[in-house]
Amino acid sequence: MEKRIPDDACQYFNEAMETMTRAEIEALQLERLQATVKHCMQSPFYKKRFEEIGLKPEDIKTLADLRKIPFTTKQDLRDTYPFGIASTPLRNCVRLHSSSGTTGNPTVILHTQKDLDEWANQVARNLWMVGLRPDDVFQNSSGYGMFTGGLGFQYGAERLGMLTVPAGAGNSLRQIKFITDFGTTAIHAIPSYVTRLYEVMKENGVDPRKDTKLKVLAIGAEPHSEEQRKRIEDMMGVKAYNSFGMSEMCGPGVGFECKEQNGLHFWEDYYIVEIVDPETLEPVPDGEIGELVLTTLSREAMPLLRYRTRDLTRVLGRSCPCGRNHVRLDRMRGRSDDMIVLRGVNIFPIQIEKILMQFPELASNYLITLTTDEDNDNMTVEVELEELFTDDYSRLLDLESRIRRALKDEILLTPHIKLVPKGSLPVSEGKAVRVVDKRKVYQ
Ligand code: COA
Ligand code: AMP
Ligand code: ZN
Repeated sequence: MEKRIPDDACQYFNEAMETMTRAEIEALQLERLQATVKHCMQSPFYKKRFEEIGLKPEDIKTLADLRKIPFTTKQDLRDTYPFGIASTPLRNCVRLHSSSGTTGNPTVILHTQKDLDEWANQVARNLWMVGLRPDDVFQNSSGYGMFTGGLGFQYGAERLGMLTVPAGAGNSLRQIKFITDFGTTAIHAIPSYVTRLYEVMKENGVDPRKDTKLKVLAIGAEPHSEEQRKRIEDMMGVKAYNSFGMSEMCGPGVGFECKEQNGLHFWEDYYIVEIVDPETLEPVPDGEIGELVLTTLSREAMPLLRYRTRDLTRVLGRSCPCGRNHVRLDRMRGRSDDMIVLRGVNIFPIQIEKILMQFPELASNYLITLTTDEDNDNMTVEVELEELFTDDYSRLLDLESRIRRALKDEILLTPHIKLVPKGSLPVSEGKAVRVVDKRKVYQ
């Protein structure tokens, strides 16, 4: 396990792993895949699944044999909630992260100490790759607690040896004070929050180019376009690198751009990357957009085999002027399910529907609209009233506020609520259109 911090002049955090040839990557992947599959037989879920189709760990003889293994889905995580997929006894696990929501079973991801160590190494590798060194000051504006962007970046930045400021989400004035007082040189933030920070800086006479020591931004956890990245770089006067992560794989650290900014390097010593057609589930050729499927290669507590991420992307290449041959993937191009990623928070429309349906005052038609207003991404939930009582203002306000609170408990962020008369929302033919995304984040 890499714990030694390289010399500042070295451009790699773990040179041996980062500069492997393709043949070396594939040989290591096969070795790790075989060990992972064997380990998965400790998981009641995988043991049963393998037995059902008569597959044995010894049947995985080549990387191509991966395709004999069935996919794992978010539904599998829900069905086995909370600990049914674990491959390690709970007494060996030291942490869990869980998704939001209580209306359906949330998902739970377990970690052993070794998992946490490897995760920190992954994040440190990424931050080193874009030029950060122990002299840097790293400020993290992710939510802490269950959001993996909090502790994930915290431990990774500490592993690299940086002074790390666990600022957490929001409180922009305080964030800006930290940036100027502590000499912050790098920030991790969701792209929409960088824009918010910039606006608050402007309002308070802080010029990021003159009044801060910022040199690097790590932006991710939500979809964004190349135009949005360029705008952020122009505003802040520093490079912004795309960071991809997901809780099921550990959190941030799964894929990150190098200084070439030519796609996200996904770390193939930790994951096997497949891109499949979301309909046929057959592999698509390099360059074609499909669904990202990931197999973990180093996880102890909860390895996942062929996990369908539902994120859409494509392979851009398998070599790079930076000397790393780990596959380069395009920025995320959409989802093959209806999950919304807003402000770095994942939300399924069904969560919203289930909460709305608990209110007898509401009819069943509703519409979720996502917008970027000035510097903030917002959600508005319009919902029809079962019975018109628009003249009773205080009753309306009370209902709105109860709905807002119930939704915030479920989805963790606060939507705007608009109560409208029955019959006033569009009725679509066929499958109801429940979400209108005006943010244009996938471009
Ligand atoms: N990261 C940092 N700050 C965020 C944020 C995010 N993802 N989402 C919202 N904020 C900021 C808002 O800009 C606002 O800042 P301000 O103090 O300058 O006004 C503040 O948080 C509160 O936002 P508000 O809209 O009033 O609150 P909310 O009820 O909608 O809840 C959060 C917002 C911050 C509590 C919630 O969205 C959250 O915890 N987000 C963190 C998600 C995250 O870290 N994801 C990364 C996972 S890897
Ligand atoms: P979570 O499990 O909460 O970390 O959320 C993971 C999801 O966030 C992914 O499956 C993506 O849909 C989204 N996501 C994370 N990073 C990025 C990124 N850099 N670009 C686009 N979407 C992202
Ligand atoms: Zn590169």
